[in-house]
Amino acid sequence: MKARAKAKGATERIRVGFIGCGRIADLQCLGYLEHPRAEIVAVCDLDAARAQRRAEEWGVPKVYTDVEQLLADPDVDAVEILTPHHLHEVHAAAALEAGKHVSLQKPPTRTLEELDRLIGVAERSGRILRVFENFMYYPPHQKAKELVEEGAIGTPISVRVKTALGRLTDGWQIEPETQTWRMDPKRCGGGPATFDHGYHCFHMGRFFIPAEVDRVHAFIHWTRLADNAWIDVPALISWRYAGDPIRYGSWEVVPSFQMRIRTEYYVSDDRLEIHGTRGIIWVNCCTGKLLDEPSLVLYRDGETRAYHDLPTDWAESFRRGGLDFVGALLEGRAPPQGVDEARRTLAFALAAARSAEEGREVALSELLVSAGG
Ligand SMILES: NC(=O)c1ccc[n+]([C@@H]2O[C@H](COP(=O)([O-])OP(=O)(O)OC[C@H]3O[C@@H](n4cnc5c(N)ncnc54)[C@H](O)[C@@H]3O)[C@@H](O)[C@H]2O)c1
Repeated sequence: MKARAKAKGATERIRVGFIGCGRIADLQCLGYLEHPRAEIVAVCDLDAARAQRRAEEWGVPKVYTDVEQLLADPDVDAVEILTPHHLHEVHAAAALEAGKHVSLQKPPTRTLEELDRLIGVAERSGRILRVFENFMYYPPHQKAKELVEEGAIGTPISVRVKTALGRLTDGWQIEPETQTWRMDPKRCGGGPATFDHGYHCFHMGRFFIPAEVDRVHAFIHWTRLADNAWIDVPALISWRYAGDPIRYGSWEVVPSFQMRIRTEYYVSDDRLEIHGTRGIIWVNCCTGKLLDEPSLVLYRDGETRAYHDLPTDWAESFRRGGLDFVGALLEGRAPPQGVDEARRTLAFALAAARSAEEGREVALSELLVSAGG
């Protein structure tokens, strides 16, 4: 979808409404609070006390508990949607129809059918719909992308992501309801690890390689944590990229539930390796602070270069993502990720789930064709 928003004049501001004021709103607010031409003017949450707390924290004048009321507010230009996944389509479609630009948290929807309906609404509305995936804004990942594009490792031929899950009592406190909807595949759209978190890792699988993923194979085991609480780990997923050269990628999630992971956020960390024809890049951290290694290491021509001074706080990826959305609206440009990108990443995640369920390799075309192209 092309950006069709008109660039705003130099003095105009982007007035943002938050729909959903739960856990991740802590970080999602950062770019909007900082940008000199953005302002959070309204918040909305079913939980009135939570919405009120956010309004006080951020100095926001308007507080709603009904999405329709926020969407009817003419002072809101754009919305940030931070609700559970089963509500994404309906909230984003209503916002677009109300004439608001939309930043929608990953995964955009539970299914391709939901996303395709939403894309139709976005196209008719002429408003911007961006899907927000923060790993692509994480500074070591951005540096890795820059190095790959400069040719620092030759042709990239493999991506490997590894996620460590740690002791669940560490890190952020997570409200029981936040866990409950994530562990309910009907509301989440899949598993909390391989679909909810997985969207980031599948996107990283696509981010560094200039070829589409065409085939996926997955082992995903469901582990019982407590009564009615299941998590889709361990998991090992591999894929092939289309075209020449032949190249593969993989992602593994390891449930090391007795391991302490230093983190200010979720109790997990993600490490990444991009292997090229002439060199290798390692990104050694993301959500947490598992290792005391340089955040990025580049190997090439017998030499190793360590990057020690990239910003590594995971929050930085949210700050940059918020600033980018405001910048895109002010400049009238399409922000990453547009819906076409998001659709490929969602298909990738859904193909992995289908592969594990059916015990076979799945071609992404099976999903994309049945969902209409
Ligand atoms: N980028 C990331 O790394 C990242 C991390 C966490 C969450 N997320 C995404 O952010 C979104 C929210 O996740 P969370 O962890 O903050 O969840 P959460 O459960 O903490 O927050 C969701 C909020 O939505 C509110 N809500 C539910 N129904 C509503 C309705 N009809 N109207 C208004 N408010 C409603 C709830 O009361 C709650 O406060 C999800 O899409 C999730 O995948 C992204």
